[in-house]
Amino acid sequence: MPIPPTPRPPEDPVLILGATSGIGRALTLELRAHGRRVIAAGRRQDLLDTLGGETLRLDVTAPDALDAIAPLAPGTIVYNAGFGERTPTPDWPLTRQTLAVNVVAFERLAQWALDRCAVFAATASVAGIRGLEGTNGYAASKAYMLNAMEGYRRLARHGRHPCRYLTLIPGFVDTAMGQASAFWRCSPETAARHIRRALARHAPTAHITPRWALVAALLRLLPRALFERIPLRA
Ligand SMILES: NC(=O)c1ccc[n+]([C@@H]2O[C@H](COP(=O)([O-])OP(=O)(O)OC[C@H]3O[C@@H](n4cnc5c(N)ncnc54)[C@H](OP(=O)(O)O)[C@@H]3O)[C@@H](O)[C@H]2O)c1
Repeated sequence: MPIPPTPRPPEDPVLILGATSGIGRALTLELRAHGRRVIAAGRRQDLLDTLGGETLRLDVTAPDALDAIAPLAPGTIVYNAGFGERTPTPDWPLTRQTLAVNVVAFERLAQWALDRCAVFAATASVAGIRGLEGTNGYAASKAYMLNAMEGYRRLARHGRHPCRYLTLIPGFVDTAMGQASAFWRCSPETAARHIRRALARHAPTAHITPRWALVAALLRLLPRALFERIPLRA
């Protein structure tokens, strides 16, 4: 008698958007090492080639991005693609790209996942908790993400939608985007390990690394008048 095929777990395959470098690349390797089926996505084909396995060349801001994603039927989407400006004064082309990747494309995928995916995880940032000079568009875009993810969690719960929304909140990670400070900075591999565990334990939010929850709490508690006196850059 033929052996029936093992049913696909509803959380697979995992589509990681922004998998070519940094946290996303490490997460791709981490999840694959733990037996998950991962489709790694990003714009840089040379880096996708070095990752191997299932890949998708994709610009998340492309109008036809959903046409490329839908046939893959991802059980989990990790929206890890991110862009951030770090300029002494605001620079509109950079801010516009920041909003296109971190807000518009993110929101489009978060909506799409509601009745189609088992899990939608998004990499926000501790920078999204308060306004930050020097990287204001980035901080504001991550604030949007933090708020929207909470809203989607509420919507999924009260509207009985199947998708679980997980907000990832890194502090500093040692990647191209994470060069601002060495304070409590972890490697992308450490970040990936924490994200894998958060995906497995059905957490609503995960600080990366967990001790960044202290910084997040402090940032939330600081009175506005005091916070605005302290010079800070993300
Ligand atoms: N590093 C930190 O300290 C830190 C802290 C807090 C939050 N984060 C967040 O963590 C996430 C990953 O960043 P990282 O630190 O690992 O930096 P990274 O190495 O620069 O990774 C950014 C990823 O985003 C992808 N990406 C950017 N624009 C894209 C687009 N239009 N379409 C598709 N993919 C796009 C890049 O791939 P391609 O260029 O190949 O498309 C790359 O894989 C970001 O969302 C970032 O905001 C990082």
